[in-house]
Amino acid sequence: MTFDAPLDAFLTDPALSALADEARTWRRTIHQYPELLFDLPKTAALVTEKLKEFGCDEVVTGIATSGVVGVIRGKRGPGRTIALRSDMDALPMSEQTNLPHASKIDNMMHACGHDGHTAMLLAAAKQLAARRDFAGTVVVVFQPAEEGGAGGKVMVEEGVLERFGIEEVYGMHNGPGLPVGSFATRSGAIMAGGDRFIITINGKGAHAAKPNEGHDPVLASAHMITALQSIASRFTDPLDSVVVSITYVKGGDDRALNVIPASMQIGGTIRTMQPDTRKAVEQRFRDIVTMSARLFEAEAVIDWRPGYPVTVNDPDKTQAAIAAAQRVAGSANVDGACGQTMGSEDFSYMLEKRPGAMVWIGNGDSAALHNPAYDFNDDAIIHGLRYWLAVVDERLNDKAMAAGA
Ligand code: NI
Repeated sequence: MTFDAPLDAFLTDPALSALADEARTWRRTIHQYPELLFDLPKTAALVTEKLKEFGCDEVVTGIATSGVVGVIRGKRGPGRTIALRSDMDALPMSEQTNLPHASKIDNMMHACGHDGHTAMLLAAAKQLAARRDFAGTVVVVFQPAEEGGAGGKVMVEEGVLERFGIEEVYGMHNGPGLPVGSFATRSGAIMAGGDRFIITINGKGAHAAKPNEGHDPVLASAHMITALQSIASRFTDPLDSVVVSITYVKGGDDRALNVIPASMQIGGTIRTMQPDTRKAVEQRFRDIVTMSARLFEAEAVIDWRPGYPVTVNDPDKTQAAIAAAQRVAGSANVDGACGQTMGSEDFSYMLEKRPGAMVWIGNGDSAALHNPAYDFNDDAIIHGLRYWLAVVDERLNDKAMAAGA
């Protein structure tokens, strides 16, 4: 790791190393008792107990069932309110690491590092509550159910942004393959939106030898599947990533090969990288499905299941995030224009409502996210902790505020 600028004094505080060591023990405790979706009694209790112990001005529990929020006011007077967000939930997988701190619960595992995210944000909360060296308010947000439960959406629906006056939101996720101590982010769309669908095609059954007496849903579905592939190949900009995958086809009966079924189903998923494209693609999808069914005198019923939105970083806030990361890691270790991923993230619901930025923090040469051999890299904790402190300094002690802008 090379640094092209010395760390700010407050980021080299020797107390931070001790704090990172303490956070490692919290991380390993959380790791041993993973919990799923909204059902996080142990994890939420640990977070709540710590936030109270640190002396947060307010600690609020039970948002989105098990979400926990801590409020820390700065000693330099009034100013902006920003939120730092972590997820807390694990995955329904069996851990295969054989580590001393491996999961003690069958078929539950912290395979996405949310244990590490929680520990890093707790460490930051402890330091911020002890020092309060900023103007304005820091709200630390610990949310449930990132893994498929849209906990971030429920937190937003339950009014977490308004209730605490949150003006900006910042998120962080560990990235396997990215060196420890490095960061990556980008302005604009950083992670994809993912929607799913099931289409029921209702025709009219008939004897296979007298197809003219029916309306064949199988033939309609075949044209529909083919036509849907024209969305990415002919409808959207080739430079704007779109994936349309049909992953499910069900119809007919293998004991009745001489019968044209009355109905059948197909299903799949669509991934997009731009909110406008996502809307346009959904409309195009609906038109193709409806019209290709009609072409064969069948009728299509669409069960559209919206997934997480595109994760979109605000340009200004991304600059602040990059500046914070550079203060921690040196500019050589910060990629401010990283590639996009087709995965999705429910921090996107907060970013839809407030400007902010999501960054990747290096997890080193670990197994991939959602892999049974994965473990969060504790060596990243000190860097994540420093990053949160630098974000607060950038946004709540910045030069624009000093100038009264
Ligand atoms: Ni995750």
